[in-house]
Parts: sequence; structure tokens; C-alpha cells
Amino acid sequence: MPLPNPHLPDYRAGMNESGDSLGASFARFADEIRRAAPTYGAICEGVAAAPEVLALLDGVPAPQRRPVLLLAAVHHRLLESPEEPLARHYRTITSESDNSDPVPAFIAFCAKHARALRSTISNRSTQTNDVGRAALIYLALSPIAADSQAPLGLVDIGTSAGLNLHLDRFTYRFHDEDGGEVRLPGSAPELDCLVRGATVDAVLDTSLPRIGNRLGVDPSPIDPRDPEEARWLLACLWPDQIERVDRLRAALTVAADHRNEVEILTGSGVDRVAEGVERARAAGCLPVVVNTWSLTYFTPSDRVTYVEELDRLGANDDLAWIYLEAPNETPELPWGEVDRNISLSVLRHIHWKGGQRSERTVGIAHPHGRWIEITDR
Ligand SMILES: C[S@@+](CC[C@H](N)C(=O)[O-])C[C@H]1O[C@@H](n2cnc3c(N)ncnc32)[C@H](O)[C@@H]1O
Repeated sequence: MPLPNPHLPDYRAGMNESGDSLGASFARFADEIRRAAPTYGAICEGVAAAPEVLALLDGVPAPQRRPVLLLAAVHHRLLESPEEPLARHYRTITSESDNSDPVPAFIAFCAKHARALRSTISNRSTQTNDVGRAALIYLALSPIAADSQAPLGLVDIGTSAGLNLHLDRFTYRFHDEDGGEVRLPGSAPELDCLVRGATVDAVLDTSLPRIGNRLGVDPSPIDPRDPEEARWLLACLWPDQIERVDRLRAALTVAADHRNEVEILTGSGVDRVAEGVERARAAGCLPVVVNTWSLTYFTPSDRVTYVEELDRLGANDDLAWIYLEAPNETPELPWGEVDRNISLSVLRHIHWKGGQRSERTVGIAHPHGRWIEITDR
């Protein structure tokens, strides 16, 4: 099957910048993203030759010393300074985006706000929460829910602002290449997902999953009710991807409105997943552990421990695990027949039921859930 290329610049960028000069990594990043994100492409090309701007990343640990951290820090500051000339180039701030060269305004902005930018850069790490992935989780969850007598207890590892814990509350439009379409009404945002390689009817059970417990784990959870925290999530998105911003704002509203129905554990998923599973069981639910673009942030040995922990937790009691990750970044996960060298987002699930363990690849997906190529029919 030919593999579609979803373009993953925001995740790949700067993942392995060590050994590379920072200027060169900005230049390479500019090349990668220019077509999909012209504003950030132009800015990164300009920054590659601006040592005074690159110096803002001095002293930052290697894993975070990447273009996306500087871009997010500037965007974060700019969201509260919309009067700045640079804001005219950001469609997240102005609807009439200025198409002239943004680099002079970017450099001037960095000089003026250097102190605040340094503080953000040293205290934050890039952190997205893309609710478009809820459509993919929904697809994997649908047969598990249909099969379970008990309500589901979501245990979202790397939950960020916990947005995907509300996946049963959003509106979905699933459609296929044969013209089939299923619309599941709910709150904004409306998430649109193209199903390739199968009909929607074949892969989707339209009854809403019954969710009885919602728990997330993250070392740096974001409180959706706190405007300052929410601003950091918005800043991690790109001004060239305005549709993601609208989606995020709508999902933050849902998460803020229902924050008291969610429990968040602060810490690493590897240390706290067992606690999350036990809480779901104590609430009379089938625990469903979910990790979407989170295990890439674990160390390899923590990924090994996490997999062992889930096998242990599923050995004597029923458990489901849904994961959407890139195999090449998380080769320690059970990828079955999937090539571990691919850098695409692969959606799989494992089900421990009555002592039996079964695993399934649902498909290869767009990293933000816009489409999925079903490989299991
Ligand atoms: C790219 S975001 C993905 C967020 C969310 N799962 C989604 O799909 O939108 C990665 C998240 O993993 C979290 N994270 C990093 N290391 C972690 C760890 N050891 N345990 C749990 N979460 C972690 C980060 O704080 C961040 O919120």
C-alpha cells in the first residue's frame, strides 16, 4: 500500500538538533515547512542568519533547543501584545494578514522583549494538545465500547489540557471516499475525518461510548480554565494553521466547562499509569489507556517499563490500550506487523479480555486526525 505523506514538520522539527549549529537547524527547518507554513518558513530563514535572535536559545538544554520553542515563546508574548507591528503577520491575531517580509518585525520584537522571551524559553517546553486526534481515538474506542458491558474509564497519558478526555462531547463528521458520511452531533469543535480504504459504516459504531471516568496524567498539565495556561497552548500552534487555533479554542471551552469531571495526576505516565487504571476500575469502568503523541517524550527505558506495566495490569483484569504514535520514535511499543522505521502516525489498540490479549492496527493516520487510511478491514 502506498503510504500517504502527512508532513510532520511541527513534530520532527528540532527533535534531534544536537551536533547541528542552531542557525543550520533553523535554515533546515525553514526548508521543511516553507510550503505548508509560509510565515514561519520566512521567519526561520531570517532567524538562521540573525545571531542576536539565536542567542535567546543559549543555555537551553539540547532537547528543547529547537526552532519551535522560540517560535512559541514569541507567539505567546505577541498574543498579549497585538499592537506590535509583528502581529500584522500572524493570522491568529489579525484577520488581514500582512504578506510582506515578517523578518525585520520579528527581529525587532525579539530585541524589545528579550528578557520576557528568555524567561518563557527557560521555563516552558513546547506542548500541543490537538483535539483533532479525538476523532482517531473515537474510531479505535468505538468497537471497544460496543463490546463492553461496563462504562469506559479513560486514562490519558500525556493529557496536556485534558482535551481528549472529552471526546464524547465533540461533533464529528466521518466521511469516506465512496461518499459515505456519518455526522455525530455534539458541542463545538466539529472534527472532520476522512476514512480511506474502508467505508465509514464498516469502521464506526455510531452509538456514543459511555464514559464513566476521565483521568489524565502529565508532568506539566495545562489548566484549561487558566487563560495564561491556555495562551501557552495557543502559542504552540502556528499562525499559518488558523483552523487548528479555532478548534483548540472551542475544545478549551468544553474542557474548562467540565473540568470538575476530570481528574489530573501530575507526573510521568510511566510512574502513574497503574494508579490511573486502578482509579478507573474502582469507578466500575473498563480502563482504556490512551497515549497520542506522548510516548515519543519518554526515554526508551521508560517506554519498555510502560509496556511491561500495561501487560501486568492486563494480566488478571480486563484492560484496553489505544495508542497513536510514530513507530520510528517509539520502537519499544508493540507495533506488530507495522514497520518500526516509519515516521507516520499509526493507530493501534491492544485489548486484554478474560486473560486473552489481542492486538490490532487500525490504520495510518494524519497526525492531527484529518484522515485515516484503514489497514484493518
Ligand atoms: C505533543 S503533546 C500531546 C498531547 C496530547 N496527548 C495530544 O494528543 O494532543 C505531548 C504531551 O506529553 C506530555 N509528556 C511529556 N513527557 C511525559 C511523561 N513522561 N509522561 C506523561 N506525559 C508526558 C507533555 O507534557 C505533553 O503534554
